[in-house]
Amino acid sequence: MKLTIGRSALLGAAAIASFSIAGNLHAHGNVTPQAVDTSALPDIDGGNDHWLEENPYTGNPKAIEIGESAYGQNCARCHGLQAISGGIAPDLRYLELGASGDEWFVERFRHGSSHDGKVYMPPFGDVLGQKAGWAIRTWLETQHTED
Ligand code: HEC
Repeated sequence: MKLTIGRSALLGAAAIASFSIAGNLHAHGNVTPQAVDTSALPDIDGGNDHWLEENPYTGNPKAIEIGESAYGQNCARCHGLQAISGGIAPDLRYLELGASGDEWFVERFRHGSSHDGKVYMPPFGDVLGQKAGWAIRTWLETQHTED
């Protein structure tokens, strides 16, 4: 009897814990980030503590594939399917190629964008990680347009 009560109390506590984790994610701009499996990509020295300034995966077909799917799950709802913006958020096909585009991409990916206490874009750096970030950037490079 005692054991039964203890066990259900434990299950209750676990349910509350997982509920509040989901609640916290929702507080960040109402987004539940979708985990990205980046195990097929080369590791980056320093993990998420040291971010590179330039994309290490440019042209890597595996990164393009992973990036396309990660973009679809985490970014498309604001930035548009196939990176074609419907106007809510900037059209990422115009993001500059090369080092200065990389730098700006990483800044926004890691920290998102907030003004006056309002979250316009939630931060993704800690939740998705550096490898997923560069994979998305690699796919975006394939969608780049000048017009
Ligand atoms: C909740 C909506 C939302 C989601 C989700 C979102 N963004 Fe954004 N993003 C924005 C908005 C709005 C801006 C413009 C912010 C500003 O200018 O202050 C922006 C800006 C950017 C910029 C800078 C673009 C520029 O031209 O200055 C990049 C890069 C970017 N986002 C990448 C991403 C990536 C990659 C993802 C997915 C991992 C993502 N965003 C998910 C809303 C979003």
